[in-house]
Amino acid sequence: MTLQIVIGGAFGDEGKGKITSWLAKYAKIDAAVRAGVGPNAGHSVVYQDKLYKLRLIPSGFVADDAKIYISAGVLINIDILMKEIELTGVRDRIFIDRHTGVITDEHIDREKGNKHLMDTVGSTGSGCGPTHVDRVNRSLKLAKDYPELLPYIVDVSKEVHDLLEDGKNVVIEGSQATFLSLYHGTYPYVTSKDVCASGALSDVGLGPTMVDEVILVLKAFMTRVGEGPFENELEPAEVEKRGWQEYGTVTGRLRRAAPFNYEMAKIAVRINGASSIAITKMDILFPELKGANRLDQLTPEAREFIHKIEDETKVHVKYVSTGPEVDAMIIRE
Ligand code: GTP
Ligand code: IMP
Ligand code: MG
Repeated sequence: MTLQIVIGGAFGDEGKGKITSWLAKYAKIDAAVRAGVGPNAGHSVVYQDKLYKLRLIPSGFVADDAKIYISAGVLINIDILMKEIELTGVRDRIFIDRHTGVITDEHIDREKGNKHLMDTVGSTGSGCGPTHVDRVNRSLKLAKDYPELLPYIVDVSKEVHDLLEDGKNVVIEGSQATFLSLYHGTYPYVTSKDVCASGALSDVGLGPTMVDEVILVLKAFMTRVGEGPFENELEPAEVEKRGWQEYGTVTGRLRRAAPFNYEMAKIAVRINGASSIAITKMDILFPELKGANRLDQLTPEAREFIHKIEDETKVHVKYVSTGPEVDAMIIRE
């Protein structure tokens, strides 16, 4: 059995979706489990020439027979979930924990009407923060309280534990990232819960002794969407000149950008107990790498960058992503 956790090492949008979809296709995944906050996230997965923009379904859905789980710690928006179930065709293999929290229109209105959240923090308007407020107040309705969800309801902690005992491979997919964590991020410019590796385990209902690999996903440059401190931030014109511009999957907002930050990578390694690093968008930093999937295609400049990350963080860079497509990946064993 193997239990892998995929966690963002910066401000989100590192490409966790891409890394998880690769694991799903090539590492024989039996189950993909969504952790993290909720539909404030947006993962892009490019699979068989099709672009999927997903907010709730874990990117591991690309493994044909894998079971798909939404864990207890996650918040769902039932409309978004149902649309994504149709889009990905996972109706017969998706399961939702009975304790998963449910976002209503009222939560979304409350968030959109909250100037502090919308203007100061730069919230996504998906209603996650106010839904957590109700959960803390113990007034929130959970998945088990909605008859239309009953066909999907299970105890995800138990199911995943049983799969692991049975020798199966499971990937937990976090959302958001280390520096957006309510506890360890750049408070108050953060999301509404802890989203680091231990938080993801707690979302699912598993203990730390079960974990085999914590994969910290870092992008070859930094991006941040929404407000908050951002060291060495580049002017928009410079971002464009470098070809680093990106737009948010959920909000369509232009992402802020800055060069790779080794100090933050070290902190993220510590907070998450990273056992390997995945580095994405290497093709944007080094265009010769576009679509590369063999070790010998790594250029001297790319090798130097990878070695510097390893020297600084003391963690092995195992996954090198060279394009949005699942197959654009170099593995360094
Ligand atoms: P959150 O859970 O919202 O934090 O998202 P995420 O970490 O899954 O990342 P997201 O999909 O929002 O953003 C990453 C973007 O980069 C997507 O558009 C991906 O398709 C793209 N991407 C991922 N890896 C690579 C890569 O190696 N090269 C290129 N060019 N694009 C990539
Ligand atoms: P909220 O979680 O919607 O309240 O947003 C709080 C902050 O986290 C804002 O700055 C958002 O832009 C940011 N944020 C939340 N989810 C994501 C994500 O998935 N990727 C990147 N930023 C996010
Ligand atoms: Mg995203």
